Amino acid sequence: MSRQDSVVIAPSLLSANFGRFAEAAIEVTAGGAEYLHFDVMDGVFVPNITFGMPAVKAVRPLSTVFFDVHLMIVQPERYIEAFALAGADGITVHAEACTHLDRVLGQIRALGKRAGVALNPATPPDCLEYVLDKIDLVLVMTVNPGFGGQSFLPRMLEKIRRVRELIEQVDNPIHIEVDGGIDATTAPLVVEAGATALVAGTSVFGNPLGVHNGISLLRESYSAGR
Ligand code: DX5
Ligand code: ZN
Repeated sequence: MSRQDSVVIAPSLLSANFGRFAEAAIEVTAGGAEYLHFDVMDGVFVPNITFGMPAVKAVRPLSTVFFDVHLMIVQPERYIEAFALAGADGITVHAEACTHLDRVLGQIRALGKRAGVALNPATPPDCLEYVLDKIDLVLVMTVNPGFGGQSFLPRMLEKIRRVRELIEQVDNPIHIEVDGGIDATTAPLVVEAGATALVAGTSVFGNPLGVHNGISLLRESYSAGR
C-alpha cells in the first residue's frame, strides 16, 4: 500500500453548522472520512471558545469513525478522562500547554486512547524527541490555532519533513496530522512532505457541492497521477 493510500481525512466540526452537528457527523461518515476532528478551544490557550465533552458525547452514537479530539486548552490533563468517557478515540494535547507532557501522554494511553501532540507553528519538533515512544500522532499546525478559514503556512512543509525524519527513528506507528488551510491545493504538498492525516474544515464543510464532494476532492488531489 502506498503512503497516499494510508492517508486519512479528518473533517473538522469547527467549520460545520454548530446547530447541525448530528447531520455533520452523519455526512462525514457517509462521505468516507476515517476521522471526525473536534477542535476544542478554551478562550485562554487560543483566542476563541468552541465546545467540549458534551459535543463529543452527543455525536458519539451517530458515527463509528475515529473521534479525533484536539485540545487547544491550558492544563489539558484536567479533562483527559472526561473526553475519553465522552467518546474520544484519540486525544491530542498541545506541547505548549503541558508542563509535564510525558505524564499527560501516559494518562491518555492509560485510558486506552491514542495519544497525540500538537505543535504550534513556532514550536520546533525537537520537543518530541523523548516522548516518541508514547505518541500515536503528531499534529503539525499549519495555521496559528484558533480559527478556521486561515491561510496555510508554507514554512510548515519543512517542519513536516523534520517530524517525518524524527518518527522514522522509532518503531511505533505515528500519524503526522496537519491542521489548517488544508484544501485540494495544499493537500498534495503536505502529503508529499509526509503528512498522513489531513484535518480539513472549510474545504469540506464549505464545499458548495457538499461534504462528500469536499472529501472526494481532497482525496483526489493527492492521489492524482500516482
Ligand atoms: C485552528 C483549527 C482549524 C480547523 C481547520 O485552530 O484547528 O485549523 O481545524 O480549519 P480550516 O480547514 O478551515 O483551515
Ligand atoms: Zn484541530
